[in-house]
Amino acid sequence: MWTDESSQSRQLHTRARRVMPGGSTRAAVWMDPYPPYVVRGEGARVYDVDGRAYLDLANNLGVLIHGHAQPSVVAAVQAQAALGSCFAMPTPTEVELAELLCARVPGFERIRFINTGSEAVALAIKTARAFTGRHKIVKLEGVYHGSYDFAEISNYSTPENWGNTPRSVATVPATPPGVLDSVLVIPANDSAQAREVLLANADDIAAVLVDPVPPRCGMQPLVDEFVTSLRALTRELGMLLIYDEVIAFRFGYAGSQGRFGGEPDLTALGKIIGGGYPVGAVAGRADIMEATASQVSSSGTFTANPITMVAGLASMQLLQQESFSALDALGERMRAGCNQIIADKGAAMQVLGTGSISSIYFHQRPVTDYRSYYKRPTEATLTAAFHRAMVERGVILAPTATCFASTVLTAADEAEFLEAFAHSIDAVME
Ligand SMILES: Cc1ncc(COP(=O)(O)O)c(C=O)c1O
Repeated sequence: MWTDESSQSRQLHTRARRVMPGGSTRAAVWMDPYPPYVVRGEGARVYDVDGRAYLDLANNLGVLIHGHAQPSVVAAVQAQAALGSCFAMPTPTEVELAELLCARVPGFERIRFINTGSEAVALAIKTARAFTGRHKIVKLEGVYHGSYDFAEISNYSTPENWGNTPRSVATVPATPPGVLDSVLVIPANDSAQAREVLLANADDIAAVLVDPVPPRCGMQPLVDEFVTSLRALTRELGMLLIYDEVIAFRFGYAGSQGRFGGEPDLTALGKIIGGGYPVGAVAGRADIMEATASQVSSSGTFTANPITMVAGLASMQLLQQESFSALDALGERMRAGCNQIIADKGAAMQVLGTGSISSIYFHQRPVTDYRSYYKRPTEATLTAAFHRAMVERGVILAPTATCFASTVLTAADEAEFLEAFAHSIDAVME
C-alpha cells in the first residue's frame, strides 16, 4: 500500500514536504495523508512508484478522454519532439486544430489558443470587457472556473458567509475590493434572481459567465428555461454570454452547446482539446474576436506550442460522433450500476452525472445549485473516506468522488469499478 512505512510514495512525500508547502504542488488532486506517487500510465491504468496498478477514473480530472499514452497521441508527440518543441513562429498544426474545432461547433467562428483553462476564462472575460466597454461580470455561485481572480470569486462560499442572496465572497485572503465589486454572483437555475441582478447593473456588466453543466451544481445541464432567459436578457442588455466548456466540451461532438443548446458568444475551452498536454482556448463570434484581438493581448510563451497542438489534433481526430454516444452509454451504465448497489444496500447516497462524468454523493437531496450541492461536514468526511477506500481497492477517482470515464474502459474495468464501489461503501459505513 502507498501509505506503508516502507513505501517509496512515503519516502517521496517526506522529501516533498521539505521543498513544497505541505508537500504538495497541486491542491485539486490532494488526499490525506498523501496520494500515491505515479510513474506510468497506459490506457485505463496507472502504476505507482511501488509497482501497484490502479484503474484510473480520474484521468487527470477529465483531460484524458482516451486514457493514458494513447498510441496515436504518443506517436504524434514523439515525431514533433524530434522536430522541435516550440518556435517563435506559428505551425501548420495550430491551423489544423483550429479548423477542426471551428468546423465542429457552429458558434466557433474564430479561436485563439492559450495554455490552460484558467487563462482561457481570463481571456474570454477580458475580451468581453474590451468589446462591451464594461467592467463587471456575473457568475454562478460556487461554480469553478479556474484561478483568474475575478472568476474564482465565491468558489468556496459557506453558509456562514454566503448571505440570503449570493454575495461576492473572496476565495483568497486580501482579494482587492475592486475585484469583489466587479463580480456579481447569482444562484444557478434562478431566472428571477438573474433578471434582478442583470437589470440593476445593466450599464456595467460585460458578460455573464456560466458552466453549462456545472459540477458544483450536481453535474447536470442548467435548466433550459434558465439558459434561454439568460440568453435573451444578455442580448437585450448588450452583455455577452460566456460558456466555460473546459470540462463540458466532452459532452458532445459539438461540445455541451451542441448537445444541450445555448448560443454563447464566447466559449472557454481546455482539457480534452490538448490531448493530455497543457491547453486552453477561447472560441466564438468573429465580430467580437476580430474587433478585440489587438486590444486583448494573448501572447503566452507556450501558446499553441506544437507538442500540444499535435497531441490535441490526434486526440480530437479520434473522437467522432459515435465516440460520444459510446461514452454516454458507458456513463449511464456506471451510474445505473452504482445506484442499484446503493438501493440494494439501502445507503443514503446517490450518483448523479451527465454523459461520461459521474459524481458520488453521501445524501439523497436533489442538487440544483451550489447550496443544495454544498457538502455538510459529515458528507465531506464520508466523501474523503470513500475516495480513500477506492484508492485502497485500486481505483483512482477525483477527490470529489467524481469519475471521468474514458473511451478505453472495458466491460471488465466497469465490473472492477462497481465491485470496488460496493466494497468501499461497506468500508465507509463501518
Ligand atoms: C470548468 C472549469 N473551468 C476552468 C478550469 C481551469 O482549467 P485549468 O486547470 O486548465 O487552468 C477548470 C479546471 O478544472 C474547470 O473545471
